[in-house]
Amino acid sequence: MHLTRRSFLAAPAVLSTALLPASLLAAVEAETPPVPDLSSWDAVRAQFALDPAHAHFASFFIASHPAPVQAAIDGYRRAMDRNPFHVVEHGMFSEGADNVHMQVQAEIADYLGARPQDVCLTGNTTTGLALVYQGLPLAAGDEVLCTTHDHYSHHESIRLATERAGASMRKVVLFGDAASASTGSIIDALLKGIGPRTRVVGLTWVHSSSGIRLPIREIAAALRARAGAPLLLVVDGVHGLGSTDETVATMGCDYFCAGTHKWMFAPRGTGLVWASAENWARLRPLIPSFTDVDQYVAWERQAEPASPTTADRMSPGGFHAYEHQWAAAAAFRMHKQMGRARVAARIRELNEQCKAGLAANPKVTLHTPMSGELSAGLVSFEVDGLAPAEVVKQLLARRIIASTSPYAITYARLAPSLVNTPEEVERAVRAVREISG
Ligand SMILES: Cc1ncc(COP(=O)(O)O)c(C=O)c1O
Repeated sequence: MHLTRRSFLAAPAVLSTALLPASLLAAVEAETPPVPDLSSWDAVRAQFALDPAHAHFASFFIASHPAPVQAAIDGYRRAMDRNPFHVVEHGMFSEGADNVHMQVQAEIADYLGARPQDVCLTGNTTTGLALVYQGLPLAAGDEVLCTTHDHYSHHESIRLATERAGASMRKVVLFGDAASASTGSIIDALLKGIGPRTRVVGLTWVHSSSGIRLPIREIAAALRARAGAPLLLVVDGVHGLGSTDETVATMGCDYFCAGTHKWMFAPRGTGLVWASAENWARLRPLIPSFTDVDQYVAWERQAEPASPTTADRMSPGGFHAYEHQWAAAAAFRMHKQMGRARVAARIRELNEQCKAGLAANPKVTLHTPMSGELSAGLVSFEVDGLAPAEVVKQLLARRIIASTSPYAITYARLAPSLVNTPEEVERAVRAVREISG
């Protein structure tokens, strides 16, 4: 029997075509405002409903939905509220153009330079990291090597997975001071850290502690060039995706995990994992999928799926907030319209302005490299004699929203992004000067 996506998980299995919307996508698009002009940065800023009373320098934390994304969410929500069964059944399980899940994969794949079937939709970075580490066939005695600089979500994903497998984790220090690290020194430190039992290396692209951006392309090449058994490279890429002009699928990592609800401005509660077909096939799924037909057919036959694991099989099933998941495509379209290189250049320009301004202040210690090649959208710093939380508090009193980094050693952070202007950056730098005395 040929089982189509339509009959997969759809109940009842036979639907009267007369009851089905002619074209779900066309219906939603007909209600959605045309894509706005995004040719100026003022026009981009105007897409966000951010409170204008504040300068927002913590937008990387979680996105404010820009107008095209909000319109897509609202369109899908209205469609689902009118006819939840047909819209979800069509959007998830139909063949061809009405399958919104596949449309989202295609839109994201185009941005990543990937194949649509290699894009796994998740809810956030944390879920992606957990799926990958839990999915890896770690054996007792294997080691996962990560760094002391990674995020809680990354360390804990590794700890929980290695604990279950009887494997171990170890953390290597890549640099003492991020601001003076170089590509060569980072690669040396990492290569020296690799031990005889290391099977997997976990790295973070842009660190939310110090703001350093690791040269993943060069690191991946160095890992491939070393003698010894090949290692798998897992990257937490959340703060590089949408802030950096990179083609993710060609960077050389084996598993790329990211939330899309930060720099990409996709709906809150969205994320992705990208891997090649070969690397997907290595993983053991953790959560039943709702998008893998083979898995469902095998279940009907009371068997295990015979085909290799894919991105779809790794994508956590159960019904989701589809108006959010599906509207992720609008965010990727918005980024493509703005231009990846243009977006990265703007973020770099604002961050360089911010770093130059802070560096001119003798009471400030910058922890982010000055080089735009080794940084992206985050500026981490300390002010002499003031705790980072106090810096953030005093900036807030001046209507500037900054944040502290959630790590054992914490810094104050300003993250100039597409929602900021050079004038706002200047204001932030001036405010830091005022509070530093
Ligand atoms: C480096 C890094 N990784 C992972 C996360 C968790 O992201 P998510 O909320 O998408 O799981 C964060 C949170 O900001 C982060 O800074």
